[in-house]
Parts: sequence; C-alpha cells; structure tokens
Amino acid sequence: MARILITSAIPYINGIKHLGNLVGSMLPADVYARFERQRGHEVLYICATDEHGTPAELAAREAGQDVADYCREQHEIQAQAGEAFGLSFDHFGRSSNPPNHRLTQHFAHVLEDNGLIEERIDRQIYSIDDERFLPDRYVEGTCPHCGYEKARGDQCDNCGRLLDPIDLKNPYSSISGSHNVEVRETKHLHLLQAKMQDRIAGWVESKTDWPQLTKSIAGKWLKEGLRDRSITRDLKWGVPVAYKGEPRPGFENKVFYVWFDAPIAYIAATEEWALANNENWERWWRTDKGAEDVKYVQVMGKDNVAFHTVSFPATLLGSEEPWKTVDTLKSLNWLTWYGGKFSTSEGRGIFMDQALEILPADYWRWTLMANAPESDDASFTLEHFAGVVNKDLADVLGNFVNRITRFCKARFGEEVPAEGTYGDNEKTLITELDRRIGAYTGYLEEMEFRKAFAELRSIWVSGNEYLQGAAPWTMIKEDKDKAAASVRCALNLIVLFAALSRPVIPFAADKMFAIFGLDPEEASHWPEGAAAALSRFKGGEAFTPSDVLFAKIEDEQVEAWRQKFGAE
Ligand code: 2FM
Ligand code: ZN
Repeated sequence: MARILITSAIPYINGIKHLGNLVGSMLPADVYARFERQRGHEVLYICATDEHGTPAELAAREAGQDVADYCREQHEIQAQAGEAFGLSFDHFGRSSNPPNHRLTQHFAHVLEDNGLIEERIDRQIYSIDDERFLPDRYVEGTCPHCGYEKARGDQCDNCGRLLDPIDLKNPYSSISGSHNVEVRETKHLHLLQAKMQDRIAGWVESKTDWPQLTKSIAGKWLKEGLRDRSITRDLKWGVPVAYKGEPRPGFENKVFYVWFDAPIAYIAATEEWALANNENWERWWRTDKGAEDVKYVQVMGKDNVAFHTVSFPATLLGSEEPWKTVDTLKSLNWLTWYGGKFSTSEGRGIFMDQALEILPADYWRWTLMANAPESDDASFTLEHFAGVVNKDLADVLGNFVNRITRFCKARFGEEVPAEGTYGDNEKTLITELDRRIGAYTGYLEEMEFRKAFAELRSIWVSGNEYLQGAAPWTMIKEDKDKAAASVRCALNLIVLFAALSRPVIPFAADKMFAIFGLDPEEASHWPEGAAAALSRFKGGEAFTPSDVLFAKIEDEQVEAWRQKFGAE
C-alpha cells in the first residue's frame, strides 16, 4: 500500500467556481484520488480556499462586506458546492486560518536566515485619490506585451503573462477608476530566486516523468532565468509580516503576497486536517518524519505551473528543511465556453451551483473528464454536452443497466439466475475486458484522463455488444439455461462497470451497487480481473432494478439553457 498525497490548486475565494476551474484542477484530482483509494492506497486529498490578496479584497468590496465575513461565507459556499459535486477532499481548508499564518511566517523567517530574503525599495503605483498603493489587481491598464486594455497588475488575462504593475500602460485604479496615479517608493521583502536558479533547474531536471505541458512551462521559466520577486504587499488583509507575534518594524501595514502564502496552505490545510482528526500531518510533509515514502501529486491549470515548479519549490528547498516536494505535477489547458473565456469576474459560462440546479453532478463530471483539456484547450458547448450525455451515459451505460435488470426481473425474477454455464461468448468478453481494464488502469495511473475515459466508454460498449450477441431475449426460447448464464454475466457486468466508473461518476456507481444491495466501499475495490468479477454472483442474489440511471437531454432543454447562460 502506497501513501499518496494529492493537492489541487486552491481556488480563489472570490465566488463560486465555474466548470473551467473545476476541470482544471479539483475534478481531475478528485478522480485520481478516488481511483487510488479504490486500489487500496492510503490517499490524502487536500484542498482549501485561497483567501488572501487582491481577488479577495476586491470581491468583498464589491459585495459590500467585510473581507473576513465575506471569506467565511464564500468558503462555506465553495465547500458545499464541492461536496455536492462529489469532490472527495479529505480536508477543504482555508488559507486564512492560523496554521497558514504560522507556517508562512516560519518560511519567511528561515528563508531570511538562509540569506534568501532581503528588504528592498520597490516602485509601486500609488493612487492619489484612493490614498493608497495599488498592488496587483488593484491596478488595471494596457498589457505591455499584447495590448489588451483590461490587463490586471499581476497578470494579463489575454496573453497569460505575469506582469509588474508599473509596466502597465495607461494604469488606473480598479477601486475608483481614477487615472490620478503615480509611482511611489515602498519597502518590501524579496525572495532571492535568482540565487536558486541552479538548484531549481537541477530539481526540475530530476523530474523525468513530468508531463510535457508541465516540463515545457517550467523549462521556459528557467530559460528566461529566475528573477527575485517581492513577497509582501501594501495591504491589510493577509498574513501579517511578523514572526512569533512580533511585527517586523516598518512592515506593520503590510502582509505577505498571496502567491507566497497560497501554496504553503497545502501544508497548513493538512495541519488543519490533522488537528480535526487527531492525525499526524508531518508524516505527509516532512521527509524526516515519514514523508519520504509519500508520492506527492499536484493538479492545476497551466497558469499555475510556474508558481509550483519554481516559486513554491524555491520556498521549500530554500528553507533547507526536510519538506516533501512534488513528485508528479499534472497540468491542464483551458476549457473554453463556446471557444471564448469562462470568466468569474464577468459571470460568463456555467458555475458549479448553476450546473447542479439543472442536472446531477455525474452528467457534468463525465462530460468534463472525458473531454478534459489535456493536450490542448477544449471547448465546452451545451450541444456537445447533450450529445455526450445522451450517447455515452444514457444510450450506452444507462441503457445497458436498465435493459438487463428489467429483462431479468420480467423473465427470471428479482434474483440473479443460477442456471447455465459461461461459454465462448463470455470467454471472448473476458479477454477483451482484461485488455481494456489493463489499458484503462494504466491511463488513470498516468492521469491521462481523455484516454482513460475513451477506454472506459469502450468497456461499456463491449458490455452492450456482448448482450447484443448473446441476445438472451431470443435465446430464452431455445435454451433457457444459456440465456440465464448470459443474464448472470450481464448482471455481474453492472457491478464491474460500477467499480470501474466510480472514480468519475461516483453517484451513478453507487446507484448501480445499490441495485444489488452492495456496500460501495467493499464492492468498489479495484477489479483484479474480468474473470473474477464476472463470477461474483453465482445465482440466487436478490436485486431491485433502479430508476433510469441517466435521463436524455432534449433539444428544448439545450435551447432553454442556451438562453439562460447566454451561449454564443
Ligand atoms: O489560480 C488560482 O485559482 C489560485 N488561487 C491557485 C493557487 S494554487 C496554490 F498555490 F495554492
Ligand atoms: Zn497581454
């Protein structure tokens, strides 16, 4: 049994997440966590809300709320949405909680001791009308790289480049819209990443199994050369620049930069989990306390990769303390909304709460994961969504389950029939399933989700083809025992399909287990082989057909949703 630590990029607190955010980090991490748990490994899946920095302050301001209250409420909303979507976090923490304050201050302290932090005078945009500095997203303007006119101070949403606010052309305050701004000097702490260039390059080099997208982003940053970066901001909300309760002189009105404390929150949220569950967090994070055996997997969208391949490792390695660093870093491209951007600030696309108002989680989970933006960006459209649901879930999987359970009930009763023995049809099926299950398992191990779910779809199809060939509805007239054996095989297939499908469609899988009154935890253990799985029921086991597993989506529904969500 291996120990696997999984973290997905912690979502900003500024409102409920859209489907693009979901498939970019939390959902693939959840699928992988569920898969590894079903294989019997000890998995710890940690996530949290990212509550500091300008996104939080700006959103609270817009909501007319105190930022701490806003964060508390929004954390609850995101936690509930995650649960409703079946995201199986072992803990969903908060970057604003005390463990993260303590750890962030600890890291800054040891990094400074190691000569990797220095006070420097920065030039920052100051708003004369707002009487304050405008860090990061508090300032907007024209991107110096691509000319996009609404680039934010920290990053251009159009070309994705990270920015320094003073490089923006025509800058203005995003609080008041005022252009009455000037550059002023202010003191900040800088993390001396340039000193870490060779160390980080060597560390990245050692990660031979990182996926292409991750490697190429890390490589690009290393090639450009690591730059020192400021890790504090002129803001009120955040982790105070202090150590053991003592504010740092001259930094009383400053806090750590959100991107310094956010990844540290992976560790802090593990500590929260440990506190709440009387567990030990160090055995997951400290290589001197048992974490050398842990496999650590991170999942995130491509815009987060630089922070996780360069900045966070600089924090961990620069501390010279025995922290666990990432082993596998799965990064994803963008999911687009009809080819354009999903956008939280502009409310464009479908958000997690809205999605669940119209259909259950598994419909979304399947469509998103089977079309995950892995090798390239992928477009989400309602028309494609309806097509995938109708074909894969309703026609292939749902129809298989409903058809065979109803037929058995009508002709053999509500027990698995015991008569007859498996013959050539079943042998052929078992050979095909073993090959496909092997491939499917391999793809999930590699987190190649599109390939994995194409394989799972083929597994469901092979069940349908088997049933079509065995045709118990006609066979029953010539050879009732033979028909009984194929019905038994097909009922066993339902349980096999449920186990294999559970990482991605956990709610439907549990309904499939419930047909036979099986305990999902026990029945979902990752199948060893098709032969064993198909002889689970030998005959005599009671069952109750379920309601329709997946309803088809009608054209009128698609049209109504198009209107509702402003699809173009
Ligand atoms: O891009 C985002 O949504 C960030 N909140 C991700 C932070 S990941 C990490 F560093 F914690
Ligand atoms: Zn740009």
